[in-house]
Amino acid sequence: MNLVSVKDYQELSEYACNEIEGVVRANPHSVLGLATGGTPLGTYQEMIKGFAERNVDYRHVTTFNLDEYIGLGREHPQSYYAYMMNNLFNHINVSPDHIHIPIGNGEGLELECHRYERLIEEIGPPDLQILGIGSNGHIGFNEPGTSFQSETHIVELAESTRRANARYFSSLDEVPQYAITMGIKSILKSKRILLLASGSHKANAVKTLLECDPDEGFPASVLKGHGDVTLVVDEGAVGIDNIVNSL
Ligand code: PGA
Repeated sequence: MNLVSVKDYQELSEYACNEIEGVVRANPHSVLGLATGGTPLGTYQEMIKGFAERNVDYRHVTTFNLDEYIGLGREHPQSYYAYMMNNLFNHINVSPDHIHIPIGNGEGLELECHRYERLIEEIGPPDLQILGIGSNGHIGFNEPGTSFQSETHIVELAESTRRANARYFSSLDEVPQYAITMGIKSILKSKRILLLASGSHKANAVKTLLECDPDEGFPASVLKGHGDVTLVVDEGAVGIDNIVNSL
């Protein structure tokens, strides 16, 4: 695992955007693995700028998102579909039929998991996967205890995850209890992975990641066994006690 340490959230966002643009410029038909949540918002803003100002062309790019809430229709403002449309896809020229996000409100959710995993196999895997890290070490919605062999599956969200995401809903009760997520094995298929961590509320998760061996109790630790992962941290996420030069 490589470690890149940047000053702040803006630098982290520029770094991630630059990596994505590099992949897309090298291969206009690239497959990108994308994430939701607060962390990649700045990256997406930079990508929108890059599309407008640097002529980055997403016409032939395919995207796979990590996860989606179960029970929210795509039109729900807090669905991850709506998040991606509002924060990125509506502002760049990615083709709608190249966008893949699990469908969390249909019939046959198990079938949807299989369909999604097959699609990743057929069209993917991502050339570059963007990941955030939960304070409990989750990646995607793979909560602690998830098998490292898991493929796309249905998960019950941890209470801490629902609480962390309640900021986007009017109350905790409205936060869905379940989601579809790419599994850990699915995520590891990506050729390259950028794991982004920003802010002091991520310092404990980063510290645990740096110190622990791969362990299903802390899902992000599995990334230590992947050959091409870069952890990008800003000063807040490194934390005062986490002075590390390399992993
Ligand atoms: P965040 O979430 O980007 O909103 O901090 C990351 C995660 O929970 O995976």
